[in-house]
Amino acid sequence: MKLNIAVLPGDGIGPEVTSQAIKVLKAIALEFNHTFLFKEAPVGAIAIDEKNNPLPDSTLDLCKSSDAILFGAIGHPKYDNDPSAKIRPEQGLLKLRKELGLYANVRPVKAYDTLLDKSPLKREIVSGTDISIYRELTGGIYFGEKQLSDDGDTASDLCEYSRYEIERIAQMAFKTAQSRRKKVTLVDKANVLETSRLWRKVVTELAPNYPDVTLDFLFVDNAAMQMILNPKQFDVILTENLFGDVISDEASVIGGSIGLLASASLGDRYAMFEPIHGSYPQATGKGIANPVASILSAAMLLEHFELFDEAELIKTGVEKSLKLNITTPDLNSVYDNITTSKVGDFIADFISNPNDTNINFNNIHLGQSTII
Ligand code: IPM
Ligand code: MN
Repeated sequence: MKLNIAVLPGDGIGPEVTSQAIKVLKAIALEFNHTFLFKEAPVGAIAIDEKNNPLPDSTLDLCKSSDAILFGAIGHPKYDNDPSAKIRPEQGLLKLRKELGLYANVRPVKAYDTLLDKSPLKREIVSGTDISIYRELTGGIYFGEKQLSDDGDTASDLCEYSRYEIERIAQMAFKTAQSRRKKVTLVDKANVLETSRLWRKVVTELAPNYPDVTLDFLFVDNAAMQMILNPKQFDVILTENLFGDVISDEASVIGGSIGLLASASLGDRYAMFEPIHGSYPQATGKGIANPVASILSAAMLLEHFELFDEAELIKTGVEKSLKLNITTPDLNSVYDNITTSKVGDFIADFISNPNDTNINFNNIHLGQSTII
């Protein structure tokens, strides 16, 4: 298969983790005879520095003319501490989502057996967790009208949803549940918010079309508690933009590191793949950023094009790396010298030689490996 992939590394650790995903995709292309062509473009703080625009037209055009987008991270502390900044890196990502119509953000949350003890939660609570979060991505309070009074003392953000916006992501969530454990949990705040009541109404009306799927509801405050108390109860979580943002960072604790969580942002025409973590400015350039979320986002990209064997091989490589402690310091208590790029090397090498990896593991101990 030939794929044109737009690469938007963005800010902070974005470039270093994204280059590991590319390394892994190149190994896949070689093994499976695919042609993946990568073209890079700036987005976020770096694009503001270069072009005074967090999403230059040339970047948007590249995305629109590509088959898929691989996105790194966005954000810089100089904007976080300056509420008066009119141009902000995050605007680049939000505009990209809106312009490309990426309304469904899929965030899988999985507890890897080998990492159960890395989670701050108890092993028996996290063990077996397998959740697919469907976060609405182009509506709600993120995109409603924003106002700041002339005296600067009053502000508002409008939260708005239409039936159509709810239906299209709900249908996706129901379909996914049909191929999983057949349960959808709608997370909302229907006891308070009118938009949440609309979500409940629309989703309840759709449910009979998926008779094999059980639909249940949780208020977001309770859902936040249940996520920590008993995450295994969840199969597919369906929720609006802001609740999905918060719940998914919370869910990342289950896996042991936010550096593991990948995501796909899907629309009717375009698809973008990105780690859920941010730009982690303190870690930039230190080689300590975990590239697994970006590598697993590349696996989601392959799944999107139905390259399931290829995606599976990446996931097996990731699991192998976790098992052998070929991980960055956020997860590693055994080796202290495994860098971002070494994790990428290991997984790319596994893809080229899936049966050879134990030998490499021995070499790590001997300090002889050319790979590690
Ligand atoms: C995410 C991020 C973004 C969001 C930010 C960077 C705008 O936190 O992808 O979860 O809030 O959606
Ligand atoms: Mn977020």
